[in-house]
Amino acid sequence: MSKQKSVKKTTWRSPSNIALVKYWGKYGLQLPRNASVSFTLDKAFTTTSISYYTKETISPDISLSFIFEGQANIKFEDKIRKFLSSIRAYFPFLDELHLDIISENSFPHSTGIASSASSMSALALCLCQIERDESGKLSDEDEFYRKASYIARLGSGSACRSVYPYIAMWGENSSNKDASNEYAIPVVEGIHPVFKTFKDSILIVSDVEKSVSSRAGHALMEGNPYAKSRYTQANEHAEQLIQAMKDGDIECWGKIVEKEALTLHALMMASEPPYILMLPNTLIAIEKIQRFRAEQKVPLYFTLDAGPNIHMLYPEVVKDKVMYFIEKELVSLCVSGRVIHDQTGTGPVKIA
Ligand code: PMV
Repeated sequence: MSKQKSVKKTTWRSPSNIALVKYWGKYGLQLPRNASVSFTLDKAFTTTSISYYTKETISPDISLSFIFEGQANIKFEDKIRKFLSSIRAYFPFLDELHLDIISENSFPHSTGIASSASSMSALALCLCQIERDESGKLSDEDEFYRKASYIARLGSGSACRSVYPYIAMWGENSSNKDASNEYAIPVVEGIHPVFKTFKDSILIVSDVEKSVSSRAGHALMEGNPYAKSRYTQANEHAEQLIQAMKDGDIECWGKIVEKEALTLHALMMASEPPYILMLPNTLIAIEKIQRFRAEQKVPLYFTLDAGPNIHMLYPEVVKDKVMYFIEKELVSLCVSGRVIHDQTGTGPVKIA
């Protein structure tokens, strides 16, 4: 007679994030060349469930199945198997358990929302939850999230910033003695409340998969002649941005945010080989946003990820004016008129 399997389950929902000061350039095992700061998003999230039970025999092979958005996905399954295999030292239970992983995103692909950030942070949180439930370790909340951030970083650098509400910082920086290259930290103390009300409306200028991956982009920073001064600048920007958020100085904040976005793309254009991810409509939208801000005196700023889509950042109080502006001037620049409306959020949630 076969033994009855005892199956347990954990589910976490974790958001994506958008960098304000960009992480671009890395070394070693996903360690950043400079500090970065991000807004945690709210509506763009991944929900991941892991059902698990003890394998018949303990073995170093990772035993798992992976269902993405309702379908078996061998490519993702292989990636996750490799990743889990690389982090076995942090979770010894991986040798003992079979995992059935189910994952889905609340947002579509190739829209300028980092699915790697939400998915890797959701997976890391589930793994930490299993450790907590099975071993009684990680009962301390700070320790729990720090480990989740550390593990998420190993999966996809910027994912480490997704485990905290509203604002997170990753990478050593003189603005905070607790900042680390190994995990992100929440940025809370003294931040002006207006930054908790920020909206992020994403103009989908293109929904085509980008031609150069972030992985390749990071690697190209190694030969970039501007790399050294860039890392210094980013660390200064991180300090200045945090200060601007403490002062409630949206203008100073916005100047840094836009400079960061344009610098990221300038670095791509100055790589060997050089490449351009912005599209004509990206530039048209940027010009319109800057003109609207100057003429209407509305604190609306933009940032870009490593792609052509535009994240429009603005405080809630100017929402109606910005919505009207988007409808009138920007929707026509977007693929099928698509704009995704998100906002800063309260961070991951344990669902079950
Ligand atoms: O975490 P990665 O390897 O996907 O790199 C993210 C790079 C940017 O999104 C461009 C910047 C950032 O800090 O998120």
